[in-house]
Amino acid sequence: MSDIKKIKDEFLERLNKDLSIESVNQIKSELFGKNGKISSSFKILGSLPTEERKKFASDLNYVKDELQEKINKKIQQIEIKEINSKLENEKVDVTLPERNIVQGKIHPVSQVIDELSSIFSEIGFSVEEGPDVENEHYNFTALNTPDNHPARDMHDTFYLDDKKELLLRTHTSPVQVRTMLKGKPPFKIIAPGRTYRSDSDQTHAPMFHQVEGLHIDKNINMGHLKGCLNYFIKSFFEVDKIKMRFRPSHFPFTEPSAEVDIGYELKNGKIVIGEGDKWLEILGCGMVHPNVLKNVKINPDKYQGYAFGIGIDRLAMLKYGINDLRAFFETDYRWLNHFGFDPLDVPSNYRGLSR
Ligand code: PHE
Repeated sequence: MSDIKKIKDEFLERLNKDLSIESVNQIKSELFGKNGKISSSFKILGSLPTEERKKFASDLNYVKDELQEKINKKIQQIEIKEINSKLENEKVDVTLPERNIVQGKIHPVSQVIDELSSIFSEIGFSVEEGPDVENEHYNFTALNTPDNHPARDMHDTFYLDDKKELLLRTHTSPVQVRTMLKGKPPFKIIAPGRTYRSDSDQTHAPMFHQVEGLHIDKNINMGHLKGCLNYFIKSFFEVDKIKMRFRPSHFPFTEPSAEVDIGYELKNGKIVIGEGDKWLEILGCGMVHPNVLKNVKINPDKYQGYAFGIGIDRLAMLKYGINDLRAFFETDYRWLNHFGFDPLDVPSNYRGLSR
């Protein structure tokens, strides 16, 4: 028996056994690899006498084709076997109940932030952001609140270090400072975000949300402040008329300062905004104190403007009839399902941010 026939018989026998893909590949390389049996047989062709060479070459080619075909078939067989065994073992049980798909909802606070960003952008405000972990300087000192100022106690601050240098911002007003430091006037921005004070009851949570407003330019006065707030409140509550009053107040960073109340009445236990003889405080505001402008290297004789800080959670509670603030942050999905918004539900006063 010639060598070629021996190779052929030996390998066909091996290939007839039950094999894994790895073993077939092993056989393949033993035959056709660089030093494989078939490859090296071709190498001796040159040393054979012409007559023998022809026959040897044709036998070798024949065996090569046969073995190659056998290997291909074997691989195919193994793959089919694998697929069949998968089909056998991984049956889909169509009688099983479907998996629950829970549709998420937009939290009322996020919804209100979207709404107010859209409303303010209509009159030229852009949106700024600042960090929740703030330093003492931006939160107080730069805002004209000296070390011993009682407002520091008023805010029930969460400090993050013993030196009282780092804190959780107690209001969004530090974004005023950050914005003015990084640019040149005029400024017309709002800054919505989270704020923190050590306080907790039905209308106060240790974490809550504010939106800061700041408008600095030449010749900005309190009339502009009043007009801006009037426009905002009417658009936000979707009413044509609003009763609004400015009450003198005090903030270290504004002079004069005011708190703004809006008129409302109770109809069948529900708050109706805009009319009535009851008053509800919704924001603090005033003309930016000259010292604040000086602290950010703006000349108060040239530039002036107003600032305001509105409680976002309070707005959401009023507009959407939610009476306990703490529910906002309890992550109760049943609550969110009831008070949340569908992502594609566009509020009637939403006019798009890009217009
Ligand atoms: N930062 C003030 C507060 O948290 C609100 C405010 C902002 C008042 C801007 C005046 C101007 O109470």
